[in-house]
Amino acid sequence: MKVLVTGGCGFIGSNTVDSLIQNGHDVVVIDNLSTGYKENLNKNAKFYLEDINNKNIDKIFEIEKPEVVYHFAAQIDIQLSVKDPILDAKNNILGTINVLDSMKNHNVKKIIYSSSAAVYGVPNYLPIDEKHSTEPISFYGISKLTPELYIKNYSNLYNFKYSILRYANAYGIRQDAKGEGGVIAIFINKLLNNESPRIFGDGTQTRDFIFIKDIVNANLSVLDSSDNTILNVSNNISIDINKLFREIKDILNSNVNVIYEDKRAGDIKDSVLDNTLIKNIGFEPKYNLRRGLEETIEYYKNIKKDV
Ligand SMILES: NC(=O)c1ccc[n+]([C@@H]2O[C@H](COP(=O)([O-])OP(=O)(O)OC[C@H]3O[C@@H](n4cnc5c(N)ncnc54)[C@H](O)[C@@H]3O)[C@@H](O)[C@H]2O)c1
Repeated sequence: MKVLVTGGCGFIGSNTVDSLIQNGHDVVVIDNLSTGYKENLNKNAKFYLEDINNKNIDKIFEIEKPEVVYHFAAQIDIQLSVKDPILDAKNNILGTINVLDSMKNHNVKKIIYSSSAAVYGVPNYLPIDEKHSTEPISFYGISKLTPELYIKNYSNLYNFKYSILRYANAYGIRQDAKGEGGVIAIFINKLLNNESPRIFGDGTQTRDFIFIKDIVNANLSVLDSSDNTILNVSNNISIDINKLFREIKDILNSNVNVIYEDKRAGDIKDSVLDNTLIKNIGFEPKYNLRRGLEETIEYYKNIKKDV
């Protein structure tokens, strides 16, 4: 199948591209390399260096005629969304509308959209299922939720299908530890450099971490099924940040300690996503945290050796 992937040079996008190609699909990537890396890109994917906000992407759709779009390209930093909500909305909301418009113009059959636990806001109950209210408390949460509404409306008007996947906290191979990347990437890299990472708040905040290979399997599992659904993608296991730090410290046999700082705006105290719906369609996460962390640590150790 001809598949177009936006953000295919990023963490989740590039791992998904690898798996699509392994499964025999013909893959085209659009990425502006704002946070992604050309080195992440599978050699068998066709690459367009382009911004999803640019009207030129319509030409790419015309040339490539994809049947399905995986839409990963986004600004993913919650703190940046607080500092610069216009940039955040431009990338995540207007960028998605531009992609949807090209899909409409070129009769693409389906979009698979990477949404986020951030759309739920402060949980009324845990674990959060897909029926939970959506009242985001960060601009990032708003800019991930709004495209869901556009996708549903485009789908109604122009008759294409969608799967909206709301990921819990992803971690693993190729996650960027620079800037405000995922907490696991930051902890591991700090400890590998014998530096103390920071925890914002007292570390009792909880998250639900899911390993990249499980996310990729979830992404591929909806390629030709689960049309017009919203599905959480998670492990449905809650772990607090202090315990996460101890686990990483233990695997690395490190004696570095953490620095506690004030909690940040837009951060949610507890988040764990119910995964019953996606399990009902046959998806089962295969990685427990320890195994996922061990593979992730090996990856970062090898990169360090190469530098
Ligand atoms: N990482 C997580 O824990 C997580 C959790 C929930 C949802 N998500 C969603 O998954 C998707 C992928 O996230 P990721 O962690 O791989 O992030 P990432 O930053 O590694 O990847 C995003 C990719 O999109 C590209 N990009 C960004 N803006 C673009 C634009 N305007 N035009 C073209 N390309 C652009 C970047 O260069 C990068 O390659 C995002 O939509 C994010 O909101 C991620």
